[in-house]
Amino acid sequence: MKGDARVVADLNRYLSFELTGHRQYLLHAAMCRHWGFERLARIQDAYSAEETQHAARIAARILMLGASALPEELRTIAGAPTVPEQLALDRALVHDAALHLRAAVERAEGCADYVSRDLLREMLDDEERHEHWLDTEIGLVSSLGLENYLQAQLRD
Ligand SMILES: [Fe+2]
Ligand SMILES: [Fe+2]
Repeated sequence: MKGDARVVADLNRYLSFELTGHRQYLLHAAMCRHWGFERLARIQDAYSAEETQHAARIAARILMLGASALPEELRTIAGAPTVPEQLALDRALVHDAALHLRAAVERAEGCADYVSRDLLREMLDDEERHEHWLDTEIGLVSSLGLENYLQAQLRD
């Protein structure tokens, strides 16, 4: 089965987002655990694992379309040095991924590749949930104050 080149390019671009997210959240989880913020560490670990699964599904779809899974050069990740900066960095990544997905879903639809469209739409659903979670946490940092917020991250 031969996929449309634009759909393959969109899938590969998204693969790059997912592999970047996987590494970024893994690093943030390790840092949070090191600081003693066990709740955040567990959640970051779960997001990192989710990205691995997403990346595997995207790669499988690219191969099914008769193409090579060649993600764009991996984006640079820099483990942000504080919890609020980690949340902001993650939010920026998730937001960019969601923007890309919205356009990619439309292009897959235009190419009548409904399976890729549905897969990308499912990924978009997860990105939107992740973005909502990040917005909630960022909101809590400002409503509770950083000290109170961090206090609540010590235990899971
Ligand atoms: Fe993602
Ligand atoms: Fe994902």
